[in-house]
Amino acid sequence: MSFEHILVEPQHAPQIALIRLNRPKELNALNLQLMRELRDALKELDNNDEVRVIILTGNERAFAAGADIKEMAGRTTVDMMKIDQFSTWDQIKRTKKPLIAAVSGFALGGGCELVMTCDMIIASESAQFGQPEIKIGVMPGAGGTQRLTRAVGKALAMEIVLTGRFINAEEALRAGLINKIVPTETYLQETVKFAQQIAALSPLAVQLAKEAVLSSFENNLSEGLLFERKNFYMLFSTEDQKEGMAAFVEKRAATFQGK
Ligand code: HXC
Repeated sequence: MSFEHILVEPQHAPQIALIRLNRPKELNALNLQLMRELRDALKELDNNDEVRVIILTGNERAFAAGADIKEMAGRTTVDMMKIDQFSTWDQIKRTKKPLIAAVSGFALGGGCELVMTCDMIIASESAQFGQPEIKIGVMPGAGGTQRLTRAVGKALAMEIVLTGRFINAEEALRAGLINKIVPTETYLQETVKFAQQIAALSPLAVQLAKEAVLSSFENNLSEGLLFERKNFYMLFSTEDQKEGMAAFVEKRAATFQGK
């Protein structure tokens, strides 16, 4: 895999892949090409049996400061509709493996939306989250009004979206937007450690559990419970279930093969 705006390490650590957004001079502004590269890399890593967890990161100063304003500035509504950039985002959303965002510095606009598309968020002490689109005459377009509201509730989401105010890592943690704050110097290593806990588990159980949690955003409670139950039953036809339960009974560590 070779890309211009992202760096991909399929085996950053055993079973853990890393994708680094890599337009540092532009604070990793998400242009169309970067997003297409990200979509392609995720698809490939999702199909790679050696990979169990994918980490998405930027650099210490910025995860991503939003969609590329310079690329978008002259566009009309018709241009935007024809470009249809959100079909790329829709494909990213379909990643089956757990996707963990390791965020340091700015995660703004589309950058914050991309972080919220991930399944879990580890933030450095210097992370800042925001939806400042309102300050440039637009509004969030890649899920910000929906995912932020579900994560932090109406009052804070309204404030962030309508004023463009950034929140720091502490406020993001209190509000339930992120999982954990870690030191800036070691934020990536800490995220790898976090990812390793998940990579050690049954990838089949992890995939079906992720799917079930995400279904809670789409379904009503009865539909969601039914979906959950079917995924639960399905896992009883896997070797990983037999191994996991046998290991518990035999008081030993389980080794999951993803079968
Ligand atoms: C294009 C960007 C950019 C962006 C920063 N840069 N953000 N270029 N698009 N979103 C560029 C700057 O132009 C500058 O390049 C360089 O990165 C460094 O940025 P500075 O502004 O000089 O840095 P600083 O003073 O530290 O300010 C950091 C900042 C500010 C607060 C993050 O850059 C900023 O406000 N950026 C825009 C944030 C934003 O509005 N995001 C939402 C975008 S709309 P030069 O060449 O001038 O040195 C959006 C819609 C999503 O995301 C819709 C769905 C995809």
